[in-house]
Amino acid sequence: YPLRNYNTFGLESTAGYFAEVTSLTELKAILTDPEWKQKPKFILGGGSNILFTQNINALVLHVQITGIEKISEDEANIRLKVGAGEGWHAFVMYCVEKGYAGVENLSLIPGSVGAAPMQNIGAYGVEVKNVIESVEAVSIDSGETRIFSKEECRFGYRESIFKKEAKDQYVITGVNFILSKKPNLNVGYGDVQKTLLEMNVTEPTIRDVSEAIMQIRRSKLPDPAKIGNAGSFFKNPEIPVGVFEELRKNNPNIPGYPVDNQTVKVPAGWLIEQAGWKGYRTGNVGVHEKQALVLVNYGGGTGHEIKQLSEQIQESVKSKFGISLNAEVNFI
Ligand code: EPU
Repeated sequence: YPLRNYNTFGLESTAGYFAEVTSLTELKAILTDPEWKQKPKFILGGGSNILFTQNINALVLHVQITGIEKISEDEANIRLKVGAGEGWHAFVMYCVEKGYAGVENLSLIPGSVGAAPMQNIGAYGVEVKNVIESVEAVSIDSGETRIFSKEECRFGYRESIFKKEAKDQYVITGVNFILSKKPNLNVGYGDVQKTLLEMNVTEPTIRDVSEAIMQIRRSKLPDPAKIGNAGSFFKNPEIPVGVFEELRKNNPNIPGYPVDNQTVKVPAGWLIEQAGWKGYRTGNVGVHEKQALVLVNYGGGTGHEIKQLSEQIQESVKSKFGISLNAEVNFI
C-alpha cells in the first residue's frame, strides 16, 4: 500500500498492510483480532515528523478518530476532548473561532492532534503541554484503554513518554485539553512582536496572534503541500553555559537562550547556516533557503538521500562547533 500521500516529506514507501481506523471500537477489534495481533504494527498520524528510509513491513494503522467534544466549562476555562485524527491546525482554527485561548501560537503546525503530545509540539513560546490535561491511549498489546495524566506524559522539549518508555506500545486515540476563555496571550517572541507591529495591532486578540504566527511561518517554512519537509529536522541543542561562553569568543554573534543556570539552548538553524548549508541542494533534496533547520525534498528525493544529507550536516556542525545535533524527526 503506497504511503507517499501519508508523509509530509512526500517520500515513496509502502506498507505491508494498511488500515484506516475511524473509531475506538474498530481499533480495539483489530488489536485483539487473533490474526492481526501477531503482525508488527506501525501507528501513523499526520506523517509530519517521519522520514521513511525503507518500506514498512507491518500493519500501518492510520488513526482517523475524529470529534471535538465539550467535557466541562466554567467562567474561566473550557475542557475539550479531541479525537486523535483531527488535524492539528483545524483544531487550532476551531479554538480561535470560538475564542478559546492557549493554542493560537501553535497555528499552522502540520500533523494530527494525536501526534501533538508525542513530541510535545511547540512554537513561539508555547508548548502543547501547557494546555493538555491528559492523553487517552490504547495499549497495542492488550487493546485496553489507558489515560495518561499530564504528569505521566513526562513532557520535555520535543519529548514525552510516548517517545521513550512507552514507545511503540500505545495508540493515542484522543487528547483532553483545558483552554482559557480569557485570552492570556504569549507574544514575547521577538518575531511575533515585530509582526504584530507591522500589522498595526497594539492590543492583540487571539485571532491577531494566530494571524501573526501564520504570517511568520509562511515567510520562513516551506508548505509541505508544495515542497516536501517535516519542519525542524533537528532539535535545538542544549549546551553547558561554559561551552557557550567559550564558543562566543570566536563567534560573538552566536544566539543562545538560557534554559536554566547551567544550560543554554542554541538554534540549530544558526549552526547549520554558519556551517554553510543554508540553501544547499544535492539532487532532489536540500536545506531550505529561508530556514536552515528544515531539510526538503524537492520531489523524487529518497529518505536515504535525506538521511545522508542530515549526517553530513551533523558531521560538519560537530567539526566546526563541537556540538552534536540530534534529529527531531523520527527515522523509520
Ligand atoms: N537561525 C539562523 N539561520 C537559520 C534559521 C535560524 O541563524 O537559517 C537563527 C536565528 O538567530 C533565529 C533563531 O535561529 O533568530 C531562531 O530561529 P526560528 O525562530 O526560526 O526558530 P528555530 O529555533 O529555528 C524553533 C522550533 C520550531 C518553531 C520555532 C518558533 C525546534 C527544533 N524548532 O525553531 O519548530 O516553529 O522555534 O518557535 O525547536 C518544528 O519543531 O518542526 C518547528 C518548526
